[in-house]
Amino acid sequence: MSFTGVKIVGVGHYAPARVVTNHDLEQWLDTSDEWITTRTGMKRRHWASNDEATSDLAAAAASAALVHAGLQAQQIDCFIVATVTPDYYFPATACLVASRLGAVDKPAFDVAIACSGFIYGLTVAAGLVRSGVYRRIMLIGAETLSKILDKDDRSTAILFGDGAGAVILERSDEDSFLAADLGADGSRPELLFAQGSGARRPLDHAALDEKVHLIHMQGPETFKLAVNRMIESTEAVLEQAKLAKSEITFLIPHQANKRIIDAAARYLGMPNGKVVINIAEYGNTSAASIPMALSEVVRAGLVKSGDVLVFVAFGGGLSWGAVAWRWHQ
Ligand code: UT7
Repeated sequence: MSFTGVKIVGVGHYAPARVVTNHDLEQWLDTSDEWITTRTGMKRRHWASNDEATSDLAAAAASAALVHAGLQAQQIDCFIVATVTPDYYFPATACLVASRLGAVDKPAFDVAIACSGFIYGLTVAAGLVRSGVYRRIMLIGAETLSKILDKDDRSTAILFGDGAGAVILERSDEDSFLAADLGADGSRPELLFAQGSGARRPLDHAALDEKVHLIHMQGPETFKLAVNRMIESTEAVLEQAKLAKSEITFLIPHQANKRIIDAAARYLGMPNGKVVINIAEYGNTSAASIPMALSEVVRAGLVKSGDVLVFVAFGGGLSWGAVAWRWHQ
């Protein structure tokens, strides 16, 4: 087994065409643009149409990343999709996406760890490349959370959106991977979960009536944990990578709530311009939020060789994590 470096050679993102504004939500929920804006920072979110599923969004983001990298799907050695809204219970959404893109007989699997999906996926994918197992990996964070939203529950319906972001990791002499910190605590899944048709509560008519297949969240408690864990994980990767906070070029956090991001950034002493926030446009897209934000800043030409990026997330599991990454063109 050889040990090499890894870098990102292509990025892409995609959001469904249908936009749902705060004013749209006011039409059927007891809520207001003012409440949603001040409590979450969200103005709009994109919701998939009835005939769009997660693999469709993932394939669109991955296609954009392939074009960005100047690569064909068959040149990718492994496909990973981070999602908690797979097309099917099985097979894995990554299998569907790889075939859709035209990749033949390539390994493909999903990572299901909710909003931390991209962080876990990046850690796994970077490890597979750096240890010499694969030369190139397509990692996609993709969600259609609108499909598991209780549209009549104002405390969750306003928060979540659909989207996908993709990165292509490639073996390299330079090494972008600086450090990772991952954590999970499964002692209280009910803080943020969708029981779906899981083995604990298989779907029957009674379960459907109780809406167990939809997202349930205890918002205020999740909020507090999110702030603390995101701060701790960011500090952990900085310590491992022997970097000072001032050396971070961009903090790219999971977009759950602007107040969570602001609180963590304030504690970490990160000035506004260094924190990437696109929550007003997309809401919370779970595993897709970080790769979408990364794709936007890279494609806007804002990220330069040598820049230090810190990705950090918190979500269902509970789960959390951060990755410190030095950008190499
Ligand atoms: O992505 C994974 C991680 N996710 C998170 O970390 C999300 C964390 N949680 C949050 O972002 C926030 O807790 C929420 C945005 C979900 C809620 O904001 P909050 O400031 O914690 O509000 P709250 O739940 O404490 O509710 C305050 C009030 C309540 O009314 P009363 O009881 O004070 O009369 C709610 O019923 O706001 C009410 N409320 C709303 N009002 C208008 C809740 N949702 C809405 C709404 N519109 N959409």
